[in-house]
Amino acid sequence: MKKMKKIVVAALTAVIAFGVLTGCGSDDSEKRIVRIGHVQASDHPTNIGLLKFEEFIEERLGDKYEIEVYPSELLGSQVDMVQLTQTGAIDFCVASNAILETFSKNYEIFNLPYLFTSVDAYHDVMNDTSITDQLFKTTEKAGFEAVTWFDAGTRNFYTVNTPINSPADLKGLKIRVQQSPTNVEMMRLLGGSATPMSFGDVYTALQSNIIDGAENNELALTSNGHGEVCKYYSYDMHQMVPDILIGNYDFLNSLSEEEREIFEEGFKLTTEVANGEWEKAVEEAKDKAENEQGVTFIYPEVEPFAEICAPLHETVLNNNPDIQPIYDAIQVYNAKYADEE
Ligand code: GCU
Repeated sequence: MKKMKKIVVAALTAVIAFGVLTGCGSDDSEKRIVRIGHVQASDHPTNIGLLKFEEFIEERLGDKYEIEVYPSELLGSQVDMVQLTQTGAIDFCVASNAILETFSKNYEIFNLPYLFTSVDAYHDVMNDTSITDQLFKTTEKAGFEAVTWFDAGTRNFYTVNTPINSPADLKGLKIRVQQSPTNVEMMRLLGGSATPMSFGDVYTALQSNIIDGAENNELALTSNGHGEVCKYYSYDMHQMVPDILIGNYDFLNSLSEEEREIFEEGFKLTTEVANGEWEKAVEEAKDKAENEQGVTFIYPEVEPFAEICAPLHETVLNNNPDIQPIYDAIQVYNAKYADEE
């Protein structure tokens, strides 16, 4: 199955590369095909947001650009797609902030556990371009630029058959994490055994007992079927990791000033639409997980998890002082909402 997927990805990549080289689409028109890849299913808010982007750009610039959205890892894993975006084989992809830290170190910041103390602070920070531009606009050397973000909720642990009521319950469990050094370190601190792998491999790994659990937002239970195997979802609230839409640097710079403005409007719109769907999608996922998949939701005390993870902030900041100003700016938003409570 995995081999088959690799062959499909390789074939698609070859087709795409041919299209890019010849500059043509399937209908031989002069339109520039703009390819966007992501890992989510077609019912996911990210896909809904990107389809809106497609509609908007084609309405405004349809004589010149044709947008093609590829969901469900059709173009490969996130790491594959970031590489394809870097080289220009595809134009955009959605990558979790988690994996971006291996491409551009400062992205570590949003991977810190318990960085945001409320969803409001998280959203405000991600919408404050004076903060995000410090990351988004600084990856020219890596060959891409980040253009907007998508809400990916709060990440929590879920397991096949061990309810996680406290960090001690994680001891010895093999937990899938995203391919990011910060996540591996977080898991080490919490006492579990970190098993990094790409998102698309998680379901099979759970089913075949290669791992005991994973960590993600609620949609992974339903949209990705993990709730068919994992029966305990525990709200330890360890991270709010945004998804980031990145674009090939040269492609973005090839746009005229007018076109770029329209693309920027489109980026804003795609985020508004996707994020506007988020809360409802989470409610629906919880309902389905509880009532159709038989998942039990657990609400442990969060503080013990947060205390164990706290030293990671200092370690990361000491190793990378460049992100201290961003960290400080985030604390201002944290304090703002703490004051309002
Ligand atoms: C979420 C996130 C994805 C990410 C996935 C993962 O679904 O939105 O971008 O790939 O988690 O855990 O890998």
